[in-house]
Amino acid sequence: MARRLQINALAADTALETFVRDVSAGLSSSPKTLPPKYLYDEKGSKLFEQICTLPEYYLTRAGTAIFQRHLPEIISFVNNDATLIELGSGNAAKTRIFIEALLGRQTTDKAGGTARQPRLHYIPIDISRSALEESAESLLKDYRGLHITAYVGDYYTALHAIPRDVKGSRLFLFLGSNIGNFEIPHAEEFLRTVRSVMSRDDRLLLSADLKKDKAILEAAYDDARGVTAAFNLNLLVRINRELGANFDLANFRHRAFYNESQGRIEIHLESLKPQRVRIPKAGLEVAFEQGETIHTENSYKYSLEQIRDLCTASGLSLKKTWLDEQKFFSMNLLAPRL
Ligand code: TRP
Repeated sequence: MARRLQINALAADTALETFVRDVSAGLSSSPKTLPPKYLYDEKGSKLFEQICTLPEYYLTRAGTAIFQRHLPEIISFVNNDATLIELGSGNAAKTRIFIEALLGRQTTDKAGGTARQPRLHYIPIDISRSALEESAESLLKDYRGLHITAYVGDYYTALHAIPRDVKGSRLFLFLGSNIGNFEIPHAEEFLRTVRSVMSRDDRLLLSADLKKDKAILEAAYDDARGVTAAFNLNLLVRINRELGANFDLANFRHRAFYNESQGRIEIHLESLKPQRVRIPKAGLEVAFEQGETIHTENSYKYSLEQIRDLCTASGLSLKKTWLDEQKFFSMNLLAPRL
């Protein structure tokens, strides 16, 4: 199995020095912010997996439903002998369905009656090494024709590191609501970068969450069981552990609300009282007013028109869009505009 797996660590972008610098900059600015990529330590990655199974978090279910219904058509857009590249693969739960569509079932000895290709090279990219290791191990166990080259790191670094000279075409996957976590101009810049490494037969499958009723959106980011709250607050736990800080979790709460004019869910950690927090490894003492927040994430919600505009602005052409039955979520197949 080991021979079918290679893990490459890219420039340690979450190394301690960078973490110190990012935390100092974010908590010294006004309003206070923290970069969302730090939400995904080992515990955070586990909590996010749990978010994906919550009744309120319709996004994962909608994406899976679109796959189950339209996969044959979706994969008809890529040539046989495709390489699969996934940006932000996490636990690769959705990708599993995809891999199976290409390889067929290989869990039994008589493999792949329905296979489109007997072998598949899968290249997952993620910020979390533990998520990559666990998902790779479980996928390799189930699919004998699968080879995995994983990259631990940022999207941008990884996009330039992945192999270009492959036999067949490459299918890039950018799933979940990951595109929504970029500011709109950054989403454009990111897609332009993906476009710049794509060859003419390569394709990009991009999912994007759609604008909808505020109550549905807000529940998805503030669930009844408090898993999302724990995920957000875990960032403070991480700063306590790694930077020796003394954040008291009882003095902060998770807040998520839909900012209609900006078309985004905003995620914050709100200080419940005036307080000072020490972060020794950053040489910092931070003062909070009551009600003051640390902005940890945005999740932009798109209209179909905005998705089209985004593609056009990025040098991509939108070949087809699939929606779930409730029209909550979209899956978009893009090709480089030649
Ligand atoms: N990509 C996910 C999204 O925008 C990230 C996410 C889900 C998230 N729930 C969250 C980020 C709560 C921070 C806090 O849907």
